[in-house]
Amino acid sequence: MRFYVPAAFAGLATCVYGTPVPAEGPVNSQGVPEQLPKNETALYPPYNYTTGRHDLPDLTGIPIKALNASKKPWEIVHPNSNRTHRFQAEASCGGPTATNPSTFWYEQITHDGTSPFINDNNWVVFRNVVTDYGADNSGNSDSQSAIQNAINDGSGSGNSRTSNSLGTTGQPAVVYLPAGTYTINSPLQLYVGTVLMGDPVGGTTIKAGSGFSGSVLIYGKDPNQDSTTNFYIKVQHLTLDSNNVDKDTTFTLLDWSVSQATQLSDVVFNMPNYSSGHTGVTMPEGGSGTFMGNLQFNGGVVGLNMDNQQYEGKSLTFNGCTTGILVSHCYDCVFIDITFMNNEYGLDVSGGNIGFVALLDSTASSLNTVVRAAAPSTGDHSLVIENFVKGSSVTNVVTANGKQVLNNNVQGQAWVYGNAYVPNGPNTGAHQRGTLYNSPRPSVLTPSNGDYLVIEPPSYKEYDVDQFINVKQVSGYPVYGDGDTDDTNNLNAIISMYAGCKILFFPSGTYIVTNTIFFPAGSRVVGEAWAAISALGSNYYNPQSPNVMVQVGNAGDKGVAQFSGLLFTVADVLQGCTLLEVNIAGNNPGDVAFWDCHFRIGGAAGSKVQTNCGGSPAQCKAAFLLGHLTSSSSAYIENMWGWTADHDLDGGHGQTISTGRGLLVEATAATWLHGTAFEHNTLYQYSFQNAQNVFAGMQQSETPYWQGNGSPSIAPAPWSSITSSPYYDPDFSNCDNGDAQCRMAWFTYINGGSNLFLYGAGFWTFFNDGSADCSNNGVCQTNAVWTNDVSNLYWYGINEHLNLNLVINNGQVLVTQNNNPGSWGGVVAAYLTDS
Ligand SMILES: *[C@@H]1O[C@H](CO)[C@@H](O)[C@H](O)[C@H]1NC(C)=O
Ligand SMILES: *[C@@H]1O[C@H](CO)[C@@H](O)[C@H](O)[C@H]1NC(C)=O
Ligand SMILES: *[C@@H]1O[C@H](CO)[C@@H](O)[C@H](O)[C@H]1NC(C)=O
Ligand SMILES: *[C@@H]1O[C@H](CO)[C@@H](O)[C@H](O)[C@H]1NC(C)=O
Ligand SMILES: *[C@@H]1O[C@H](CO)[C@@H](O)[C@H](O)[C@H]1NC(C)=O
Repeated sequence: MRFYVPAAFAGLATCVYGTPVPAEGPVNSQGVPEQLPKNETALYPPYNYTTGRHDLPDLTGIPIKALNASKKPWEIVHPNSNRTHRFQAEASCGGPTATNPSTFWYEQITHDGTSPFINDNNWVVFRNVVTDYGADNSGNSDSQSAIQNAINDGSGSGNSRTSNSLGTTGQPAVVYLPAGTYTINSPLQLYVGTVLMGDPVGGTTIKAGSGFSGSVLIYGKDPNQDSTTNFYIKVQHLTLDSNNVDKDTTFTLLDWSVSQATQLSDVVFNMPNYSSGHTGVTMPEGGSGTFMGNLQFNGGVVGLNMDNQQYEGKSLTFNGCTTGILVSHCYDCVFIDITFMNNEYGLDVSGGNIGFVALLDSTASSLNTVVRAAAPSTGDHSLVIENFVKGSSVTNVVTANGKQVLNNNVQGQAWVYGNAYVPNGPNTGAHQRGTLYNSPRPSVLTPSNGDYLVIEPPSYKEYDVDQFINVKQVSGYPVYGDGDTDDTNNLNAIISMYAGCKILFFPSGTYIVTNTIFFPAGSRVVGEAWAAISALGSNYYNPQSPNVMVQVGNAGDKGVAQFSGLLFTVADVLQGCTLLEVNIAGNNPGDVAFWDCHFRIGGAAGSKVQTNCGGSPAQCKAAFLLGHLTSSSSAYIENMWGWTADHDLDGGHGQTISTGRGLLVEATAATWLHGTAFEHNTLYQYSFQNAQNVFAGMQQSETPYWQGNGSPSIAPAPWSSITSSPYYDPDFSNCDNGDAQCRMAWFTYINGGSNLFLYGAGFWTFFNDGSADCSNNGVCQTNAVWTNDVSNLYWYGINEHLNLNLVINNGQVLVTQNNNPGSWGGVVAAYLTDS
């Protein structure tokens, strides 16, 4: 479907197809921007001592003092090869079998996770606070010091986890609280790499004692690190309780000023009713988050105080909180499957710095106002409500500046407040104040009640420990996960042996693989503390014929394939490596799913990419493609960070990395992307090629910092575009050859396809050639999004920073920053091709 672009509107366009904006800055006689000398120091943005916050990403890392320098998988990989691949499941026992045991399998399974790249073979990942540290789970005495000791415990070499000396990735710790109640009288402090986990079977509560000293129950943010570098922290299967603290004292249950690859899931926040001071979750130092979900907030003055760049919040219940969600800052927030009960306000977006907020698939009862909104006439405070059902005793569904503007259910339609681009109508590119647009969701995306599919991350608590296989404990098939043994063949043997039979447990560690790891139908996999699968070797050298690291099913396969808590990475510069390829579809929606699984290219110990990529992008084509959802696949993905490192998490090495591609979606059956981020990949972050039936809730992206004016590589360089199937790369032929700000990674690149329902996109550009001085009249990058011949595209919330054009449709500039100013740059509330 093509847009009618009125002449007046087209006249505002500054970069139409074929006539791009000339490159800024010094150019040579061919019009190619001159290369500016790099200044590593200038890369690091200044910290604002007044606000204590960065407006630019923090680019510092944590050096690993006790690095095991002899562990270099790219030089010495220990062979460990019993047999060749078996790509067919050999056994199916109709399992695993659920017996609802009274003990959580994870408490009982053999714990042999490691931290492979520090100088400590005896690093302990799993810490049981009762049996190892003497915490009192009866609630009678103070357990703060026992739990904190379990968190802090470091390595035998004397480095504690509090000391900021074990890197971001070198100190994985699962602090496990068996069932019971733990009283604490002072705050707990977490650090990067911490998983704080309760028992989902028996139930674990952490309760503030009546003598609690302090104003926060748990600090989730590592105090040694800026909020924007607080990665790899997880809190799950817990109840947090502040009922012993005076209800009118200012008190927070969880300070969650954290960023990507964090997981907050299955937590209940119990606060006193009629409180004027208690808040469930706060983010006083901000952050750059992706996802939280399956949370329940009871009581308190505020349930969730959102202060972050972007988020998807999924399956949240607010009961008796005066305000359920208070958004004090969010450029781009999507809330889905929200239940408000017994509140004054459900969602308060009336103040603060807000770009776009969506409320989807939600209900409310017994409250004054479901959404308390502001009413600006710019892109600020854009709001979309879709599929909302009003329960009993609701006075207002939406108020703007205190006046009721909506008091009905919203079903089959989207209620849009903000700038909307719709075809052929008088409303093209106009500001809307509560306009309803048809938003016909395909039934394959909404298996029940017209709601998009949402699935709680599995704890597998219904299975006994005998239904699990620790992959490091299979007799005859030794697997090491030690960061320098080749685990390929024995992993493949174990995976095929137990598919359809058992659940595989990958203890914390790094599993080096030199060829494809194949997960057939029937695979269920749990990774501990983001256990890593890491590619290595000559099978991954050829970008003309890329090889897959983790392959899920073959084309046409159907069945279960579920993954949680894994990291996909590379141990060397591997220009022919596709890290993940999903071909399989489920028999039921959600059979094929990834929760809290992430990609990381470089930026961490254990990879040559960390140490050898301080030069030019051409020297560091570190991976071909992160994730590929092929045409036969149907997958549910929740909380995924596809990160090519812009900085070193474990030290100070320069990271000028050119991963080819981010996420490529060709799937047609049904795809759900809940809370995903793809960053710093060279040609695109997201590409949808003839994709159909896709839901995306909150996509966040950033361009590679080394692109733009002055860069030694102008896209597609240092790659060559492969414009044919199955890659469909952009070739940037819409830009002049030397136009470096036009030839930057597409945030989202869409060709063909239909029924794409995308909500909340945050597309941020900060740098050109590593320098924050790129901004010229508010522009560091020319184009953000390409759409071409796509039908039934319903895109709510496109939000960008320092991009001139938000959308190029069918080769024409359609949505610009200048026409949609707001928030961090430009915001459009709705871009609908067929409404
Ligand atoms: C690099 O940048 C820093 C910070 O802006 C500045 O202090 C320093 O002088 C620069 N160095 C060079 C060699 O330009
Ligand atoms: C720091 O933040 C304050 C308050 O927002 C602002 O006035 C100031 O300009 C900022 N400083 C810098 C160096 O950006
Ligand atoms: C360091 O790595 C080497 C090579 O894998 C290994 O043999 C050794 O045990 C490790 N040393 C320590 C102290 O972790
Ligand atoms: C708090 O109020 C909620 C909502 O009215 C109610 O369901 C809950 O039982 C109350 N909690 C207590 C501890 O009274
Ligand atoms: C696999 O090799 C290991 C030694 O690397 C050996 O202990 C084991 O018995 C072998 N298993 C099989 C099934 O051959």
